[in-house]
Amino acid sequence: MISSLLYVPGNVPRFLEKAGHRGADVVIVDLEDAVPEGAKTEAREGLAKWVPEIRQSGCQVFVRVNQSDRLVEDAVAATRAGADALYIPKVDSADILVRLADALVPHETDRSPIGFVPLIEEMKGLFDVRAIAHGPRVFGLTSGGEDLATAMGAKPTPEVLRYPKLMIHYAAKEAGVLSFGMLRTTVDFADKDALRSAAIEARDFGFDGATCIHPSVVPILNECFSPSPEEVAWARKVVAANAGEAAAGRGAFMLDGKFIDAPIVTRAENLLQRIEKGRAIS
Ligand code: COA
Ligand code: MG
Repeated sequence: MISSLLYVPGNVPRFLEKAGHRGADVVIVDLEDAVPEGAKTEAREGLAKWVPEIRQSGCQVFVRVNQSDRLVEDAVAATRAGADALYIPKVDSADILVRLADALVPHETDRSPIGFVPLIEEMKGLFDVRAIAHGPRVFGLTSGGEDLATAMGAKPTPEVLRYPKLMIHYAAKEAGVLSFGMLRTTVDFADKDALRSAAIEARDFGFDGATCIHPSVVPILNECFSPSPEEVAWARKVVAANAGEAAAGRGAFMLDGKFIDAPIVTRAENLLQRIEKGRAIS
Protein backbone atom coordinates (compact mmCIF):
# COMPACT_ATOMS: atom_id res chain seq x y z
CA MET A 1 0.00 0.00 0.00
CA ILE A 2 1.34 3.44 -0.90
CA SER A 3 -0.60 6.09 1.01
CA SER A 4 2.00 8.82 1.37
CA LEU A 5 4.75 10.04 -0.95
CA LEU A 6 7.06 12.78 0.38
CA TYR A 7 8.90 15.01 -2.10
CA VAL A 8 12.41 16.02 -1.08
CA PRO A 9 14.55 18.35 -3.20
CA GLY A 10 17.59 16.34 -4.32
CA ASN A 11 20.00 19.15 -3.50
CA VAL A 12 19.11 19.75 0.16
CA PRO A 13 21.10 17.42 2.46
CA ARG A 14 19.35 18.88 5.52
CA PHE A 15 16.04 17.42 4.23
CA LEU A 16 17.51 14.26 2.67
CA GLU A 17 19.22 13.18 5.90
CA LYS A 18 15.98 12.54 7.79
CA ALA A 19 13.63 12.01 4.84
CA GLY A 20 13.42 8.26 5.38
CA HIS A 21 12.34 8.70 8.99
CA ARG A 22 9.22 10.82 8.41
CA GLY A 23 6.85 7.85 8.10
CA ALA A 24 6.24 8.19 4.36
CA ASP A 25 5.70 5.01 2.35
CA VAL A 26 7.73 6.56 -0.44
CA VAL A 27 10.33 9.33 -0.55
CA ILE A 28 10.49 11.03 -3.95
CA VAL A 29 13.93 12.54 -4.45
CA ASP A 30 13.27 15.45 -6.81
CA LEU A 31 15.72 16.44 -9.53
CA GLU A 32 13.14 18.56 -11.38
CA ASP A 33 11.12 21.63 -10.32
CA ALA A 34 12.45 21.92 -6.76
CA VAL A 35 16.07 21.96 -7.91
CA PRO A 36 17.51 25.08 -9.57
CA GLU A 37 19.27 24.63 -12.92
CA GLY A 38 22.72 25.21 -11.42
CA ALA A 39 22.28 22.42 -8.85
CA LYS A 40 20.77 19.73 -11.10
CA THR A 41 23.97 17.87 -11.96
CA GLU A 42 25.10 17.81 -8.35
CA ALA A 43 21.66 16.53 -7.27
CA ARG A 44 21.88 13.73 -9.86
CA GLU A 45 25.34 12.78 -8.62
CA GLY A 46 24.03 12.73 -5.04
CA LEU A 47 21.61 9.87 -5.85
CA ALA A 48 24.35 7.26 -5.42
CA LYS A 49 24.62 8.28 -1.76
CA TRP A 50 21.06 9.29 -0.85
CA VAL A 51 18.94 6.59 -2.54
CA PRO A 52 20.51 3.65 -0.68
CA GLU A 53 20.68 5.63 2.56
CA ILE A 54 16.99 6.55 2.48
CA ARG A 55 15.96 3.03 1.42
CA GLN A 56 17.71 1.63 4.49
CA SER A 57 15.05 3.20 6.66
CA GLY A 58 12.50 0.86 5.10
CA CYS A 59 10.58 3.11 2.72
CA GLN A 60 10.67 2.97 -1.06
CA VAL A 61 12.57 5.62 -2.99
CA PHE A 62 11.35 7.11 -6.25
CA VAL A 63 13.30 9.72 -8.23
CA ARG A 64 11.60 12.52 -10.14
CA VAL A 65 13.69 13.02 -13.25
CA ASN A 66 13.80 15.99 -15.64
CA GLN A 67 11.83 15.80 -18.88
CA SER A 68 14.56 17.42 -20.97
CA ASP A 69 17.91 16.44 -22.44
CA ARG A 70 18.70 15.35 -18.87
CA LEU A 71 16.04 12.63 -18.90
CA VAL A 72 18.12 9.58 -19.77
CA GLU A 73 21.12 10.49 -17.62
CA ASP A 74 18.87 11.22 -14.62
CA ALA A 75 17.04 7.93 -15.14
CA VAL A 76 20.24 5.91 -15.47
CA ALA A 77 21.67 7.47 -12.29
CA ALA A 78 18.45 6.66 -10.39
CA THR A 79 18.45 3.10 -11.71
CA ARG A 80 22.09 2.52 -10.79
CA ALA A 81 21.49 4.01 -7.34
CA GLY A 82 18.82 1.36 -6.71
CA ALA A 83 15.68 3.55 -6.81
CA ASP A 84 12.39 1.63 -6.89
CA ALA A 85 10.73 3.80 -9.51
CA LEU A 86 10.94 6.93 -11.64
CA TYR A 87 8.44 9.78 -11.39
CA ILE A 88 8.43 11.04 -14.96
CA PRO A 89 7.09 14.57 -15.54
CA LYS A 90 5.23 15.89 -18.59
CA VAL A 91 4.67 12.50 -20.21
CA ASP A 92 2.61 13.17 -23.36
CA SER A 93 2.82 9.79 -25.10
CA ALA A 94 3.57 6.14 -24.35
CA ASP A 95 6.50 6.44 -26.81
CA ILE A 96 8.58 8.36 -24.29
CA LEU A 97 8.22 5.42 -21.90
CA VAL A 98 9.08 2.82 -24.54
CA ARG A 99 12.27 4.69 -25.46
CA LEU A 100 13.25 5.24 -21.84
CA ALA A 101 12.69 1.58 -20.97
CA ASP A 102 14.93 0.56 -23.89
CA ALA A 103 17.65 2.95 -22.74
CA LEU A 104 17.57 1.55 -19.21
CA VAL A 105 17.78 -2.16 -19.98
CA PRO A 106 21.62 -2.20 -20.37
CA HIS A 107 21.92 -0.64 -16.90
CA GLU A 108 19.73 -3.23 -15.20
CA THR A 109 21.88 -6.34 -15.48
CA ASP A 110 22.11 -6.64 -11.68
CA ARG A 111 18.65 -5.45 -10.67
CA SER A 112 14.96 -5.77 -11.55
CA PRO A 113 13.53 -3.26 -14.05
CA ILE A 114 12.84 0.12 -12.45
CA GLY A 115 9.12 1.04 -12.42
CA PHE A 116 7.52 4.12 -14.00
CA VAL A 117 4.97 6.60 -12.64
CA PRO A 118 4.11 9.08 -15.42
CA LEU A 119 2.94 12.57 -14.47
CA ILE A 120 0.27 13.96 -16.77
CA GLU A 121 0.75 17.71 -16.92
CA GLU A 122 -0.06 18.76 -20.49
CA MET A 123 -3.04 18.68 -22.85
CA LYS A 124 -1.62 16.03 -25.18
CA GLY A 125 -0.81 13.77 -22.24
CA LEU A 126 -4.32 14.29 -20.90
CA PHE A 127 -5.89 13.03 -24.13
CA ASP A 128 -3.39 10.18 -24.54
CA VAL A 129 -3.63 9.17 -20.91
CA ARG A 130 -5.10 5.71 -21.57
CA ALA A 131 -2.19 4.69 -23.82
CA ILE A 132 0.25 6.12 -21.26
CA ALA A 133 -1.39 4.19 -18.42
CA HIS A 134 -0.87 1.00 -20.46
CA GLY A 135 2.75 1.92 -21.28
CA PRO A 136 5.73 -0.22 -20.30
CA ARG A 137 6.62 -0.53 -16.61
CA VAL A 138 3.78 1.78 -15.53
CA PHE A 139 2.41 0.80 -12.11
CA GLY A 140 0.98 4.17 -11.08
CA LEU A 141 -0.27 7.43 -12.56
CA THR A 142 -0.55 10.96 -11.28
CA SER A 143 -1.18 14.51 -12.43
CA GLY A 144 0.53 17.83 -11.99
CA GLY A 145 -2.20 20.30 -11.10
CA GLU A 146 -0.19 23.49 -11.38
CA ASP A 147 1.30 22.52 -14.73
CA LEU A 148 -2.07 21.34 -16.09
CA ALA A 149 -3.69 24.64 -15.18
CA THR A 150 -0.83 26.54 -16.80
CA ALA A 151 -1.14 24.40 -19.94
CA MET A 152 -4.85 25.28 -20.13
CA GLY A 153 -4.27 28.98 -19.55
CA ALA A 154 -6.35 28.50 -16.41
CA LYS A 155 -6.04 29.05 -12.70
CA PRO A 156 -5.51 25.93 -10.55
CA THR A 157 -8.88 26.17 -8.78
CA PRO A 158 -10.59 22.96 -7.61
CA GLU A 159 -13.27 23.39 -10.33
CA VAL A 160 -10.65 23.71 -13.07
CA LEU A 161 -8.65 20.69 -11.92
CA ARG A 162 -11.42 18.31 -10.99
CA TYR A 163 -12.33 17.03 -14.45
CA PRO A 164 -8.78 16.52 -15.83
CA LYS A 165 -7.68 14.90 -12.56
CA LEU A 166 -10.62 12.52 -12.74
CA MET A 167 -9.81 11.66 -16.37
CA ILE A 168 -6.31 10.66 -15.28
CA HIS A 169 -7.65 8.77 -12.28
CA TYR A 170 -10.16 6.81 -14.41
CA ALA A 171 -7.39 5.93 -16.90
CA ALA A 172 -5.31 4.57 -14.01
CA LYS A 173 -8.23 2.47 -12.78
CA GLU A 174 -9.00 1.17 -16.27
CA ALA A 175 -5.36 0.10 -16.66
CA GLY A 176 -5.29 -1.45 -13.19
CA VAL A 177 -2.45 0.76 -11.92
CA LEU A 178 -2.21 2.88 -8.78
CA SER A 179 -3.64 6.39 -8.80
CA PHE A 180 -1.94 9.08 -6.73
CA GLY A 181 -3.32 12.52 -6.01
CA MET A 182 -6.13 14.62 -4.67
CA LEU A 183 -8.83 16.44 -6.60
CA ARG A 184 -7.21 19.82 -6.11
CA THR A 185 -3.80 21.30 -6.37
CA THR A 186 -1.41 20.95 -3.44
CA VAL A 187 -3.29 22.47 -0.57
CA ASP A 188 -1.46 24.84 1.77
CA PHE A 189 0.32 22.31 4.00
CA ALA A 190 -0.38 24.35 7.11
CA ASP A 191 -4.17 24.00 6.65
CA LYS A 192 -4.61 20.58 8.23
CA ASP A 193 -8.42 20.53 8.10
CA ALA A 194 -8.51 21.34 4.38
CA LEU A 195 -5.84 18.69 3.76
CA ARG A 196 -7.72 16.09 5.70
CA SER A 197 -10.97 16.67 3.84
CA ALA A 198 -9.18 16.71 0.46
CA ALA A 199 -7.47 13.41 1.30
CA ILE A 200 -10.71 11.79 2.47
CA GLU A 201 -12.49 12.98 -0.67
CA ALA A 202 -9.69 11.51 -2.85
CA ARG A 203 -9.78 8.24 -0.95
CA ASP A 204 -13.57 8.04 -1.42
CA PHE A 205 -13.00 8.40 -5.18
CA GLY A 206 -10.57 5.46 -5.08
CA PHE A 207 -7.23 7.28 -5.19
CA ASP A 208 -4.57 5.10 -3.55
CA GLY A 209 -2.39 7.81 -2.00
CA ALA A 210 -1.04 11.30 -2.50
CA THR A 211 2.18 13.26 -2.58
CA CYS A 212 3.16 16.04 -0.19
CA ILE A 213 6.04 18.47 0.15
CA HIS A 214 6.26 18.71 3.94
CA PRO A 215 6.71 15.93 6.52
CA SER A 216 3.91 17.28 8.70
CA VAL A 217 1.42 16.11 6.03
CA VAL A 218 2.61 12.48 6.01
CA PRO A 219 0.61 11.28 9.05
CA ILE A 220 -2.56 12.83 7.61
CA LEU A 221 -2.11 10.99 4.29
CA ASN A 222 -1.29 7.72 6.06
CA GLU A 223 -4.40 8.01 8.18
CA CYS A 224 -6.80 9.17 5.46
CA PHE A 225 -5.71 6.77 2.70
CA SER A 226 -5.53 3.66 4.90
CA PRO A 227 -8.73 1.82 5.74
CA SER A 228 -9.93 2.67 9.26
CA PRO A 229 -10.36 -0.12 11.85
CA GLU A 230 -14.14 0.31 11.47
CA GLU A 231 -13.93 -0.22 7.71
CA VAL A 232 -11.78 -3.32 8.17
CA ALA A 233 -14.22 -4.73 10.73
CA TRP A 234 -17.11 -4.02 8.33
CA ALA A 235 -15.30 -5.76 5.46
CA ARG A 236 -14.57 -8.84 7.58
CA LYS A 237 -18.19 -9.01 8.67
CA VAL A 238 -19.51 -8.70 5.11
CA VAL A 239 -17.16 -11.38 3.77
CA ALA A 240 -18.02 -13.77 6.62
CA ALA A 241 -21.75 -13.17 6.27
CA ASN A 242 -21.54 -13.64 2.52
CA ALA A 243 -19.87 -17.02 2.91
CA GLY A 244 -22.83 -18.23 4.97
CA GLU A 245 -25.45 -16.68 2.69
CA ALA A 246 -23.78 -18.02 -0.45
CA ALA A 247 -23.68 -21.52 1.06
CA ALA A 248 -27.44 -21.19 1.61
CA GLY A 249 -27.86 -20.18 -2.05
CA ARG A 250 -28.39 -16.43 -1.49
CA GLY A 251 -26.45 -13.76 -3.43
CA ALA A 252 -28.22 -10.81 -1.85
CA PHE A 253 -29.05 -10.35 1.82
CA MET A 254 -29.51 -7.83 4.63
CA LEU A 255 -26.74 -7.20 7.18
CA ASP A 256 -27.26 -4.80 10.11
CA GLY A 257 -30.20 -3.32 8.21
CA LYS A 258 -28.17 -2.72 5.02
CA PHE A 259 -28.61 -4.40 1.65
CA ILE A 260 -25.56 -6.41 0.52
CA ASP A 261 -24.96 -7.94 -2.90
CA ALA A 262 -22.08 -8.86 -5.21
CA PRO A 263 -20.37 -5.46 -5.83
CA ILE A 264 -20.47 -4.67 -2.11
CA VAL A 265 -18.96 -8.05 -1.25
CA THR A 266 -16.26 -7.49 -3.87
CA ARG A 267 -15.49 -4.05 -2.37
CA ALA A 268 -15.10 -5.65 1.05
CA GLU A 269 -12.86 -8.39 -0.39
CA ASN A 270 -10.72 -5.80 -2.21
CA LEU A 271 -10.27 -3.82 0.98
CA LEU A 272 -9.07 -6.89 2.87
CA GLN A 273 -6.79 -7.86 -0.03
CA ARG A 274 -5.22 -4.38 -0.03
CA ILE A 275 -4.40 -4.76 3.65
CA GLU A 276 -2.95 -8.23 3.15
CA LYS A 277 -0.78 -6.95 0.29
CA GLY A 278 0.37 -4.03 2.42
CA ARG A 279 1.36 -6.42 5.19
CA ALA A 280 3.21 -8.72 2.80
CA ILE A 281 5.29 -5.78 1.51
CA SER A 282 6.12 -4.15 4.85
N1 COA B 1 11.37 16.43 3.19
C1 COA B 1 12.03 16.08 4.32
N2 COA B 1 12.15 16.91 5.36
C2 COA B 1 11.61 18.14 5.25
C3 COA B 1 10.93 18.55 4.10
C4 COA B 1 10.83 17.65 3.04
N3 COA B 1 10.20 17.95 1.89
N4 COA B 1 10.49 19.80 4.28
C5 COA B 1 10.86 20.17 5.51
N5 COA B 1 11.55 19.18 6.11
C6 COA B 1 12.07 19.14 7.47
C7 COA B 1 13.05 20.22 7.81
O1 COA B 1 14.34 19.80 7.52
C8 COA B 1 12.82 20.40 9.31
O2 COA B 1 13.47 19.32 9.95
P1 COA B 1 14.07 19.49 11.44
O3 COA B 1 12.98 20.10 12.27
O4 COA B 1 14.42 18.11 11.83
O5 COA B 1 15.25 20.38 11.25
C9 COA B 1 11.35 20.15 9.45
O6 COA B 1 10.97 19.36 8.34
C10 COA B 1 10.53 21.41 9.47
O7 COA B 1 10.78 22.14 8.31
P2 COA B 1 10.20 23.61 8.07
O8 COA B 1 11.09 24.61 8.70
O9 COA B 1 8.76 23.63 8.45
O10 COA B 1 10.29 23.72 6.50
P3 COA B 1 11.12 24.78 5.66
O11 COA B 1 10.50 26.13 5.84
O12 COA B 1 12.55 24.59 5.94
O13 COA B 1 10.82 24.28 4.15
C11 COA B 1 9.64 23.98 2.10
C12 COA B 1 9.54 24.42 3.56
C13 COA B 1 8.29 24.00 1.44
C14 COA B 1 10.62 24.89 1.36
C15 COA B 1 10.19 22.53 2.08
O14 COA B 1 9.30 21.76 2.82
C16 COA B 1 10.45 21.91 0.73
O15 COA B 1 11.40 22.25 0.04
N6 COA B 1 9.62 20.91 0.34
C17 COA B 1 9.82 20.13 -0.83
C18 COA B 1 9.50 20.90 -2.10
C19 COA B 1 9.51 20.01 -3.28
O16 COA B 1 10.13 18.94 -3.29
N7 COA B 1 8.83 20.40 -4.36
C20 COA B 1 8.76 19.61 -5.53
C21 COA B 1 7.49 18.89 -5.65
S1 COA B 1 6.10 19.93 -5.94
MG1 MG C 1 5.97 20.50 -12.70
